[in-house]
Amino acid sequence: MPDRYAVIGHPIGHSQSPLIHGLFARALGHDMVYEAIDGGPDEASFRQALARFRAAGGRGLNVTLPFKQAALAVADEASDEARRAGAANTLGFEGGRVAAHNTDGIGLVRDLEANLDQPLAGRSILLLGAGGATRGVLLPLARAGAARIVIANRGADKAQALAAELAPHAGRCALAGGGYAALAREAAFDLVINATSASLAGAAPAVPASSFGAGTLAYDMMYGRGLTPFLRLAQQAGCTRLADGVGMLVEQAAESFAWWRGVRPDTRAALDWLAVPLT
Ligand code: ATR
Repeated sequence: MPDRYAVIGHPIGHSQSPLIHGLFARALGHDMVYEAIDGGPDEASFRQALARFRAAGGRGLNVTLPFKQAALAVADEASDEARRAGAANTLGFEGGRVAAHNTDGIGLVRDLEANLDQPLAGRSILLLGAGGATRGVLLPLARAGAARIVIANRGADKAQALAAELAPHAGRCALAGGGYAALAREAAFDLVINATSASLAGAAPAVPASSFGAGTLAYDMMYGRGLTPFLRLAQQAGCTRLADGVGMLVEQAAESFAWWRGVRPDTRAALDWLAVPLT
C-alpha cells in the first residue's frame, strides 16, 4: 500500500498541492498518493474529515484555508513555528498522535533567498496586512536576519497589536505596526510583501509610491493570477522587481514533504511548471 497524504481545505478544488507533491514523489521514487479533501463548511466537518483520513491510514495532511487554526487546535504537539504562527499548515500522524508544523514562513524565506536572490539579512521589510498570512511569516522573516519589519494594515490597531505581541520573539529585528498613512513618513523598503486578501477582491492596499525604491522587490503572496493589483501598483511606482507567491507555495510544500519523509525534494520542476508570466 502506498503512503497516503492529502491537502484539506474549503474550497479545495483549485489546490495545486496534489500536482506539486506528485512531482516530488515521482522524482524521488517515493511510493505515496496525495489527494485533495474538502473539509466541509465548518470546524466540525473538518474534524470529521480528519478523523476519517486517519482511520483510513493517512500519514499526513497539508491544511489550507480556513482550517489552519483548527489544525493547530487538534494537535497533541506543535513545532515552534506552528505555535508562534498560531496556525498549522502541516499535520503528521504517527503512533496515534497528531503533530503540527507550519512551513509557510520558511517556504517564503526560502523562495526569497534561494529562488529570487533576495537576501534578508540587514534588510528592511514592509508587510501589508495583519491577518493570518502575516502572522505566519513574520517571525521566520525576522529570524532570517531582517533588520526592521513594518506591518501596515487598514486597521492600524491590529498591526500595532501584532507587532507588540511578536516583538519579544523577533530577536534583533525591530518590529513596528501602524496604518497606511504613516508610510508616507518612511523611506523606501528593500522588500514589500502583500499578505492581505485584497487581491481576491481585485483591490490593492493603499501603499504610497514612496515605499518602493529602484531596487525594491515587490512580492504578492497571491499566485497564478499574473499581475495583481498590488504588483501593478508597484510597477506604476517604478518598481521593476516583481514576484508572485508561486515560489512560496512550492517551497512550503517541499518543507512539508521533508518534514514527513526526511528528504527535501528539488523544487525546480514544480516552479517551472506552475509559474505564470507577470504581465
Ligand atoms: P488571512 O488569514 O488570509 O490573512 P484575514 O485574517 O481575514 O485573512 O486578514 C485579511 C487581511 O487582509 C487583513 O489584514 C485585512 O485588513 P483589515 O484588518 O484592515 O481588514 C486585509 N485586507 C483585506 N482586504 C483589503 C483591502 N482591500 N485593502 C487592504 N487590506 C485588506
